[in-house]
Amino acid sequence: MATKKTLSDVERLKWFHEARFGLFIHWGLYAIPGRGEWVMFQERIPKAEYAKLAGKFNPGKFDATAWAKVAAGAGMKYAVLTTRHHDGFCLFDSKVSDFTSVKTRAKRDFVAEYVKAFRKAGIKIGFYYSLLDWRYPGYWMPEKHPDSAKEMAGQYEAQVRELMTNYGKIDVLWYDGGWVPNLPEGKTLAQFWNSKKVNAMARELQPHLIINNRSGIDEDLDTPEQHVTASKPGRGWESCMTIGDSCGWGYIRNNPNMKTTTQLLQNLVIAAAGEGNYLLNVGPRPDGTIRGREKDRLRAMGKWLKVNGEAIYGSQRCPLHGGMIGLWTAKGNTGYLNVFRWPGEEAVVPLVKTKVKSAKLLATGKKVKVKQEHNGRLVLSGLPKSPPDPDIAVIKVQFEGKPASMAETDAAAWLEGKAK
Ligand code: GLC
Repeated sequence: MATKKTLSDVERLKWFHEARFGLFIHWGLYAIPGRGEWVMFQERIPKAEYAKLAGKFNPGKFDATAWAKVAAGAGMKYAVLTTRHHDGFCLFDSKVSDFTSVKTRAKRDFVAEYVKAFRKAGIKIGFYYSLLDWRYPGYWMPEKHPDSAKEMAGQYEAQVRELMTNYGKIDVLWYDGGWVPNLPEGKTLAQFWNSKKVNAMARELQPHLIINNRSGIDEDLDTPEQHVTASKPGRGWESCMTIGDSCGWGYIRNNPNMKTTTQLLQNLVIAAAGEGNYLLNVGPRPDGTIRGREKDRLRAMGKWLKVNGEAIYGSQRCPLHGGMIGLWTAKGNTGYLNVFRWPGEEAVVPLVKTKVKSAKLLATGKKVKVKQEHNGRLVLSGLPKSPPDPDIAVIKVQFEGKPASMAETDAAAWLEGKAK
């Protein structure tokens, strides 16, 4: 179920389907303790004590243009910033809350700065917004504290309106925190949050808006978290993931276990192969800077995309088998074999039905020799012995039609060198 839209889904979601790669940014007061964005709840920090962090939050080195540069350098096409997380602290100006970066020590509207810089860099704008706000007893025990629950709901509706009104064109509304621990019996989450009405309001204010599935309504996007799992064809989806361990999205001061560039690129390819996007997260420091270890990885990914981006942006599903070598993506009559495990001078893939015109290696631009056996084995040869790319090398294959696989009607036929 999705709320009513004025543009066709195809038109509205076109840029998103082509984008494939976005930057997620978790940043707020929780960066100060440096133990992740759940610190308030995990350590049961009382509301008044947690609020003191706002008096310390004064990110002297915050520079939205520098963030936008990191995103653009990584080849990312859109970004999603936590305008407010579960702690309720807003990085934007709000008439219905004093717990904002504008009304406390920093006295800055970071959302406005983010929007301006990213828009200027040609990167689409996404707003993460947490429906829930831990500070309200009515969130935890809605039936015991009905007035508080009502107040929280009123604030969220007003803030979604503010975010959809005060910052120009917004491309993605990325809800989170739609779960309710003690949901009153007989109520759905969508009813609790009044999502149908609020989302309809958001769409009216922003007709191009893409909304994710975390407000109790499916809307436009599935959002697998910390794993890359494709939705069925035709459905928009985006995998969000941290660079570090999966336990936290905000700044974690000591988090030594970071994914390698190779792992991150493989995830991007897995997403692209399933026609989905990869939303990769950074958790900037309290001063507003992004860590070198995160930036290095993003820069390396951008470098890789410069050479191999045609296999990723606007990619389509490809029915060909990659065996243990890697994964195929496609675009029309072109197939891209994204090689995760370089096989050496020859790469063989089975059951290719479509005739191949030519092939080349994107890393070197060199032609690859092609032989097609009658049983569908496609032999790509004349390849370098060692991997031409330390992460993923891509072999671009030009087919005569849309790449298709042979059906194995007789499962034993291959033993005799036949396909069926
Ligand atoms: C979870 C977490 C949250 C994080 C989000 C990102 O829902 O509660 O901290 O922002 O996932 O997808």
